Amino acid sequence: LVAGTGLAASAGATPAPQHQHAPVAGPAVSEPAASEPARQFTLTAGTATVEAGGKKVEAWAFNGQVPGPEIAATVGDVIEVKLRNRDIDRGVTLHWHGYDVPNDQDGVPDVTQAAVLPGQEFVYRFRADQAGTYWYHTHSASDVGVRMGLYGVLVVRPRPVSGLDVIVPVHTLSGQILPAPAVTAAAPGSPVRLRLINTDSTTHRYAVAGAPFRVAAIDGMDLRHPSPLSEQALLIPAGGRYDVLTTAPAVLYVDGRQLWSTGAQPVETAHWPVFDPLTYGTAEPVPWSRFDRSFTLVLDRGLDLRGLLPRYAHTVNGAADPDIPVQFVRRGDIVKFTIVNRSLVVHPWHLHGHHVLVLARNGQPATGSPLWLDSFDVRPGEVWEVAFEANNPGMWANHCHNLPHAGAGMMLHLAYE
Ligand code: C2O
Ligand code: CU
Repeated sequence: LVAGTGLAASAGATPAPQHQHAPVAGPAVSEPAASEPARQFTLTAGTATVEAGGKKVEAWAFNGQVPGPEIAATVGDVIEVKLRNRDIDRGVTLHWHGYDVPNDQDGVPDVTQAAVLPGQEFVYRFRADQAGTYWYHTHSASDVGVRMGLYGVLVVRPRPVSGLDVIVPVHTLSGQILPAPAVTAAAPGSPVRLRLINTDSTTHRYAVAGAPFRVAAIDGMDLRHPSPLSEQALLIPAGGRYDVLTTAPAVLYVDGRQLWSTGAQPVETAHWPVFDPLTYGTAEPVPWSRFDRSFTLVLDRGLDLRGLLPRYAHTVNGAADPDIPVQFVRRGDIVKFTIVNRSLVVHPWHLHGHHVLVLARNGQPATGSPLWLDSFDVRPGEVWEVAFEANNPGMWANHCHNLPHAGAGMMLHLAYE
């Protein structure tokens, strides 16, 4: 295990453009046989005192650290993670955010497994066949559990190769953005891959300065044509990941604050325009000519009259979890979702078990197509049209990844066998 300090500079993927994971119609998952040797990890969840912003704060941690240990694998490995709960009364699970595992490995309590209570354990096992940048977190009382520190990074590299490969999960613990090691030595001109992961419940603004860069992948999926960019900021939604390729000297800002550098000079980035993956690149034809099912999700606010949720619930089609009907599809269906945000706040949408192809936003086709996402910000007034192939049977959570919103009703399920 690599002790996670929030950032690891290790021998990893070459920062040159490379094929990671760019499916034609979404990934399909396969289950490893029980006899296959695995890369093994043990994560023990427990209350802990950790340091944030120079202060000691109470946290919930995996193996005593926030973020938890980095889970890194190479394509072809089998990953086996033994989860133990020492003393987290609300229970713990592991959800592999953005990584499309078989349903029984998805880590949603009361849906795919029972929550792991103090003294209990659960073993997860799945194949590392999807290269890219992901993360894991508890899905039990997740609004509290993730905020308190029960998360870590999951990185699957295409092959072990050399190069500076820097993982930057950004998380706010007790009001402090957890620091990454401030400087990594790198010779000028040497390639750098930054794996930016937003593990908070709200959007962060990232700026990579010092050298031109490319956005190589979003949500673990390679962009088809990563052209050079400079002086553009990246807005990463809650749960989202951007892989950025650049060269030293480089400096990374998050919300205007320098989080990491190779020793580059400070740069003023506040005025930079925002990179928009939906209007970037060239339109490419959608691989499907028809949709077998179409659903509309209207996101709003409403009164919860049952007294189960905060009085003002976050609603989908006028209902709040657990009263939102399960949406049933058939295996093999091409499913379209239209997501309408009628509320006054951003809802970072996240479907488990699948990546969705973005078709359009506010009626404008996505020219950055094919853009496969698992986490995307639906801003107030926006309408997103996305689609996916139902190729991973099970009961899947489909929810807002502002986790307090999910806990206050904005969570539903999609099912097929
Ligand atoms: Cu990262 Cu159901 O979530
Ligand atoms: Cu929300």
